[in-house]
Amino acid sequence: PFSALECLPQDPILGLGALYQADPRPQRMDLGIGIYKDSSGFTPILQAVREAERWLLKHRTSKSYLSSDCVPGLDNGLRQLALGDHLAAELGNLTGVIQSPGGTGALRLAAQLLARLSPRKVLVGLPTWPIHVPILERAGLSLQFWQQQGADQGFDLAALLLALDSLQPGDVVLLHACCHNPTGADPQAHEWPLIARALAERQLIPLLDMAYQGFGDSLDKDADGLRQLFSQCPTALAALSCSKNFGLYRDRIGALLVRTPTARDCQAASSHLSDIGRCLWSMPPAHGGEVVSHILASTELRALWVTEVDNMRMRISQLRSGLVAALQEAQAGERFHSLGRQRGMFSWLGLNPEEVLFLRQHGGIYTAGGGRINVSGLRPSQLANMASLLANVSR
Ligand code: LMR
Repeated sequence: PFSALECLPQDPILGLGALYQADPRPQRMDLGIGIYKDSSGFTPILQAVREAERWLLKHRTSKSYLSSDCVPGLDNGLRQLALGDHLAAELGNLTGVIQSPGGTGALRLAAQLLARLSPRKVLVGLPTWPIHVPILERAGLSLQFWQQQGADQGFDLAALLLALDSLQPGDVVLLHACCHNPTGADPQAHEWPLIARALAERQLIPLLDMAYQGFGDSLDKDADGLRQLFSQCPTALAALSCSKNFGLYRDRIGALLVRTPTARDCQAASSHLSDIGRCLWSMPPAHGGEVVSHILASTELRALWVTEVDNMRMRISQLRSGLVAALQEAQAGERFHSLGRQRGMFSWLGLNPEEVLFLRQHGGIYTAGGGRINVSGLRPSQLANMASLLANVSR
């Protein structure tokens, strides 16, 4: 029966890695998938994670199934990390946390839960992480799109507010909480309260994707938009990921955070999420959750982890500044001016498919669609060459 199926094209992001591996040029740069790399191009295990794993090796007594929807302590740890002490306490039993395999698993949980509420539409800003669209659509949700980049390539608040006018109460709005993937362009600090108020007034449901907390300005500042929305909107969802900020990519650890108007609704939503998870993966994998839970509960390890996140962010920021300076030096022109304002793991060069191919063929520079680059993959010795190629494509 499989002869009836067409072979599908490779995933646009995962396929790039194979092309890069096959490229023999020493100056090649892998700026594709969003995985943090250190100065030698390596993705290290964080020291805090190593310490937690050592502790677990010694103290873990069983590999039995998890008895609940979350590794013990992980729910409170992640709730506090996302909401901060004050809001976590204020919302109390109006919030629930369900562990998932990565942030993608959390998005899938959210999509299926939302489908049970039968919203008319989910509003999605473009460009977005390419997998958002099939995750939401395959849960049976119907999507409406708006262009989230304004003329200056920044986040276009006016365009969002206009798009909200076409929604009805109970509709859903997907937003990137920080470090927008792929553009690196987030709402400004003063815009989040306006967004939160606009959604609350229209009785819309925010669905936040927070996969890069800590990579923008700080662990706390990056959660500011999410906190505004959770504080003002009685129903809200957030897909949390520990892949990037804990470097636990392959351990697949994330969670869905849900806020409801009443404690009864929270119990109902949590029971539906358990039911959905049970049919998707039965119980989430424990290892990553135990590592995160242990780090967040230990004063020492938590402090070490925060420093490690700060260091990753600072290195990315320095590399981005290096690229901005190299582009100025190469007189690459207006086109890349917004780069310096971008935040997080990614920057957006706004390239068409021919230009993406030109960089790959002439410089061994592998970018994702639109010229999205993983800034941590930049190599200082290659910045001048990259800037001069970008100056060439702009002329
Ligand atoms: C990315 O956008 O590169 C990451 O979120 C990894 C992925 O799964 O696509």
